[in-house]
Amino acid sequence: MDIIFYHPSFKAEKWLAGLQQRLPQARVRAWQPGDDAPADYALVRQPPVEMLQGRELKGVFALGAGVDDILGQLRQHPEMLAEGVPLFRLEDTGMGRQMQEYAVWHVLGWFRRFNEYQQQKSQALWQPLRNFSRETFTIGILGAGVLGSSVAESLRFWGFPVSCWSRSPKTIPGVTSFHGEEQLGEFLAGTQVLINLLPNTPQTEGILNRALLSQLRPEAYLINLARGAHLVEEDLLAALAAGEIKAAALDVFAQEPLAQDHPFWAHPAIAITPHNAAVTLPEEAMDYIAEAIRLRETGEMPAGEVDLTRGY
Ligand code: NAP
Ligand code: GLV
Repeated sequence: MDIIFYHPSFKAEKWLAGLQQRLPQARVRAWQPGDDAPADYALVRQPPVEMLQGRELKGVFALGAGVDDILGQLRQHPEMLAEGVPLFRLEDTGMGRQMQEYAVWHVLGWFRRFNEYQQQKSQALWQPLRNFSRETFTIGILGAGVLGSSVAESLRFWGFPVSCWSRSPKTIPGVTSFHGEEQLGEFLAGTQVLINLLPNTPQTEGILNRALLSQLRPEAYLINLARGAHLVEEDLLAALAAGEIKAAALDVFAQEPLAQDHPFWAHPAIAITPHNAAVTLPEEAMDYIAEAIRLRETGEMPAGEVDLTRGY
């Protein structure tokens, strides 16, 4: 069995050794331009078209949860994946907990007004602020998949009312489920803190726009953990200026890295992290992929197959 690996920034040696250890019968190599030797599986992030094109692979494994990089390329180069080659993505593999940490940190910070106290400190200002009521500090999560439902669970633990919005209805204990375009308005009208965990698809691109943000409860908060393509950045600045949005925490941006002169950097109500809300954890990811390859070799279909037409 031959496995090829390509990632624009991960250190290949660590992955090759880890995969070799987990799959001793396999031959694992880092793919280089010009390598068209046989392969059964490919592990990839932002793969060059020539890496996958013309290969009858038993599976392509995305080295992350999102597959918009691969599907974006596939839309431009449909010849990149041979008919019937399944594409798999990482489901959780330690990312759920990281997303929980990110969301809980910001929600608690805004709820307890810790950020505002930080600002008061810079003015040596001793001034207790009004406490928010937990019952009205409602959380709305766009996307109730692997990561959205994990974040929902963690915020339920803290006693916040939590809703989610997805394509299909969900049953998550203690969480109110909304689905489809027709229920989006009702979902937004009840949301104080909006957390985005949708995949980036043609249907969801630009979904965080002024029209959507203006439907949230007054002085709402936004956390974007999914993709920069979801947010219309100038619309967020306008919504902040109008007081519709009180603060935002952004991990992902239309252009990454975020340009040095981007207005988000200097905005006092925007928190920024460099697209690392939930990173791929190599050991967890390799365990997951090795197990998926073992299943595939016995003719079973592992979890995490991407629906290429749906786009996630
Ligand atoms: P997932 O399990 O596929 O969940 C996606 C959810 O979005 C599902 O609930 C799905 O609804 C819903 N959805 C998709 N299209 C929709 C639409 N048009 N309208 C309404 N709901 C829609 O994905 P995941 O593993 O939770 O990951 C979510 C995203 O997080 C990834 O795609 C990636 O972009 C992002 N991510 C970011 C980072 C980071 O560090 N910032 C790290 C990892 C992942 P159904 O359940 O009804 O199908
Ligand atoms: C990271 O952004 C991922 O999709 O895994």
